[in-house]
Amino acid sequence: MDYFQTNPVPIPSFGASTAVGATMDTIFDWQYELARKDLMRLYEKGKAASWNANEVDWSIDVDIERLTREREAMGAGGMLNSVLNPPRQLSDREVIDFNMNMNGFMLSQFLHGEQGALVATAKIVQQVPWEEAKFYAANQVADEARHVEVYHRYLTEKLGLSYEIHPSLKTLLDDICSDSRWDITYLGMQIMVEGLALAAFGIMRLLMEGEPLIQDITSRVMADESRHVAFGVLSLQGLYTEDMGGNELREREDFIIEATHLMRDRLLMHQVFERLGWDAKVWVPWMRETPFMVGFRQMLFSKIVPNLKRLGLLTPRVRAEYAKLDLLRFEGMADSVEDPEVAPPEELVKLLTEFMAENAPQASAAG
Ligand SMILES: [Fe+2]
Ligand SMILES: [Fe+2]
Repeated sequence: MDYFQTNPVPIPSFGASTAVGATMDTIFDWQYELARKDLMRLYEKGKAASWNANEVDWSIDVDIERLTREREAMGAGGMLNSVLNPPRQLSDREVIDFNMNMNGFMLSQFLHGEQGALVATAKIVQQVPWEEAKFYAANQVADEARHVEVYHRYLTEKLGLSYEIHPSLKTLLDDICSDSRWDITYLGMQIMVEGLALAAFGIMRLLMEGEPLIQDITSRVMADESRHVAFGVLSLQGLYTEDMGGNELREREDFIIEATHLMRDRLLMHQVFERLGWDAKVWVPWMRETPFMVGFRQMLFSKIVPNLKRLGLLTPRVRAEYAKLDLLRFEGMADSVEDPEVAPPEELVKLLTEFMAENAPQASAAG
């Protein structure tokens, strides 16, 4: 796909490229048993479902500002001022700027996360011991390159506004890529990062209703991502048992807890407030504490929690941490084996709608 980069992604302060060192074993599987039929089936599905970024209709004119204005006219600004209860009332212009930048920020983090998935999954090809998983991971690598392509083009050519990687996401990607243990790569990328992305894409689709290009891109990417998350669950199933040894399991718990905090922090979006020239010392705490945003961040864990449960990783330690973050309410939801193809937007939409209904009257009465 050839396109003109009108608004390049900003280069981060740490440079145009970075290196992460790792020492790891590259595993060859000379047995070619191909006995893991569930992975072989997923591999076949992945190949059949692959698409080309050229198929997307790039001629669609994207005008987020107009879209936001239309919403504004329908009372969106008033809703933002009442439901989100910001530190000060925002003018119509500020609501538009905030929305535009939030979209640009979220989509930019998708872009950087996609690049992370591209390299992390290539690492899985090298490290995973079974040929079936190497096959599937190779197919996923191609998916991820396409995802980087479409988000990059959307951000630079259509939205014209983008952000560098959030430091917490960078730390998490570095952690995943420098770890020598193959299961940690899966745990970090397929279970945590992609699990969160799957929920985030569902919300993105909802927030950008009325913009057909991003709807198409998001639907295509989501269909791929739901397979990627299923790939992680199928590959790690049965690995985390009590006879794994206390320390081994404990290290996985530590990793999950650390990754959870990093992912939550990146959703505080301090870069957005800095760019808008709003005081981050005022706005970040608001973002951390306002009930709507707390609920929004929790919802992003709705796919991760049931998957950790299936893998036997919702251990008492992880559970205690997740109880503090009020994330255990998702443990009863369908995991990626029970529901491998269908992403969870319906459940998310329901939760989001319920949340707004619960919070709107009381917040507007207060404001
Ligand atoms: Fe992806
Ligand atoms: Fe993916």
